[in-house]
Amino acid sequence: MAAGKSALIIGASRGLGYALASEFLVRGWQVTATERTPSALHELGDLTVETVDIAVPEQVAALRERLAGSAFDLLFVNAGTNYTTDPSATFTDVSTEDFVQVMVTNALSPMRVVETLQDLVPETGTIGVMSSGQGSVADNTKGGFEVYRASKSALNQLMRSFAARHADDPRTLLLMAPGWVQTDLGGPSARLTIDESIPGVADTIEAWAGKGGLHYLDRQGQTVNW
Ligand SMILES: NC(=O)c1ccc[n+]([C@@H]2O[C@H](COP(=O)([O-])OP(=O)(O)OC[C@H]3O[C@@H](n4cnc5c(N)ncnc54)[C@H](OP(=O)(O)O)[C@@H]3O)[C@@H](O)[C@H]2O)c1
Repeated sequence: MAAGKSALIIGASRGLGYALASEFLVRGWQVTATERTPSALHELGDLTVETVDIAVPEQVAALRERLAGSAFDLLFVNAGTNYTTDPSATFTDVSTEDFVQVMVTNALSPMRVVETLQDLVPETGTIGVMSSGQGSVADNTKGGFEVYRASKSALNQLMRSFAARHADDPRTLLLMAPGWVQTDLGGPSARLTIDESIPGVADTIEAWAGKGGLHYLDRQGQTVNW
């Protein structure tokens, strides 16, 4: 149990974010979790529900204003998207509009949230973002998920740039790879259930608290190749 710890989870209306909010509640954390529109979060239990669309900077700034005076041991940006659940979709098929939407949602917007909300996390805290094993350039030997993959690689690169800009920052920075999981985004063919993924993600986040530095980790706490 981590009594007294607090988490702010961005993008928790369903899927992995919802499960992560639930998991931290069970572990005794104080949880604030966000949705874009009214969701099942309100029935999850004793947590605070906030609203934000991460792709709208004014909403992210307004959330920061509402949270003034709060502090969180963990800021975790989970929100993400794909325009298809078909693993074989390539960048030759995607419309420019869908490509931009995936990139803005998965790479630019999470990092804007990190930039805007980071001062709510104390020096001992952790700032995490939900990446994916698909974001690994080194491990991309089989292709597939081409546009989504590119968006998570861009996210990883932006997080590395953030880390480089904050080289003396003692906080722990995490890019998490939860595995391929059965959600609306992962699709029904995914290898893992949510229950096979999220406890490991939470274990890893807890285990790396206080270590400092930037780490790209899977749900078993193993380093993913960049
Ligand atoms: N499932 C997998 O296999 C897998 C593998 C690796 C990484 N991931 C990553 O894990 C994260 C969660 O994915 P999931 O599988 O749980 O997908 P999901 O079930 O489709 O849930 C996506 C979540 O992101 C939120 N979201 C999307 N766009 C948003 C925006 N602009 N502002 C705020 N919230 C937004 C959604 O909110 P709404 O309900 O409002 O749409 C929802 O809560 C994503 O970053 C995804 O890339 C998933």
